[in-house]
Amino acid sequence: MPCLDAGDPQSIAAAAARLAAGELVAFPTETVYGLGARADDDAAVARVFAAKGRPAAHPLIVHVADVEQARRFASAWPDVAQTLAEAFWPGPLTLIVQRRAGCADAAAGGQMSIGLRVPAHPVAQALLRAALGLDVAGIAAPSANRFGRVSATRAAHVAQEFGSELTVLDGGDCPGGIESAIVDCRGEAPVLLRPGLLQRARIEAVLGMQLREPDVQSPRVSGSLQSHYAPEAKLRLMSTEQLRDALALLAGHASDLKLAVYSRSGIRAGRGIEQRRMPDDPAAAAHELFAALRDFDARRVQIIWVEQPPMSVEWEGVRDRLQRAAAA
Ligand code: TXA
Ligand code: MG
Repeated sequence: MPCLDAGDPQSIAAAAARLAAGELVAFPTETVYGLGARADDDAAVARVFAAKGRPAAHPLIVHVADVEQARRFASAWPDVAQTLAEAFWPGPLTLIVQRRAGCADAAAGGQMSIGLRVPAHPVAQALLRAALGLDVAGIAAPSANRFGRVSATRAAHVAQEFGSELTVLDGGDCPGGIESAIVDCRGEAPVLLRPGLLQRARIEAVLGMQLREPDVQSPRVSGSLQSHYAPEAKLRLMSTEQLRDALALLAGHASDLKLAVYSRSGIRAGRGIEQRRMPDDPAAAAHELFAALRDFDARRVQIIWVEQPPMSVEWEGVRDRLQRAAAA
């Protein structure tokens, strides 16, 4: 049975055994579902790239049980990495450090660096511990979606992406809803390569300094490609005013286009338009974001007009995902 109930301890053991045998297993984390393979098995990792349709040069995050396991993959462990690991692991933060030569070559996409994360989700933790018992030190796992598409936050969404043959540990809805923040710890000053569930301000408070923005020399992060996280429908981000004006223009004009509005303010979209309210709380908005986009697709919506979230720092992760979804 490809879909395993994560609440059953036997499921965890079965999933770990499959990973150890080089098979792929999708599993829940506190951010989104991951599509996992043992990190030390280049053939298994190649199957992840093939399943996702992801270019081989785009590195995967290696998930580990704890800091000690993380350090096995690193050739250097800077103070910044240690400070952040102590503060935020297990949790939604990925650290980029120098990779130990010969370790997880394929997972690292050939880069001399490696992305490491200790996830907090109890199912991910249990899976990592069980895998470790089978000599699997790390699970390489990108988000469980086809390259460039919307990430999966439910087991059913993973099956939608990859079919029902794939083994999925069903741990219910991912609580976070958007991916981890990624910090490159290798340089003089840490760089925020991807904003995420863990907010920039919390990272900066622990470090006592500001995170740098990526520049031309920063490593490529596919989650930071301009176009990513895209639903089937065309998505457009609009200010409250733009949205109000566009809806006023449309009013009373019948159209064959199936339009949806995803808004926060009291705007009323009018007849024939799907409307969904975005939560006022940024954590709640992150939690439902990818599921909401998938719902619009399931309803065969062709265009989604999204009211721009607030510019405040707490909304950075959601804003980032929406901007990239709109760039497709
Ligand atoms: O929350 C998350 O981070 C989820 C869950 C499953 O852990 N994973 C995730 O993986 O979002 P993925 O592959 O969709 O995005 C990981 C990003 C990619 O953009 C990749 O390019 C970047 O991390 N990355 C991984 N290793 C890297 C490295 N060595 N150097 C630079 N970027 C790296
Ligand atoms: Mg992804």
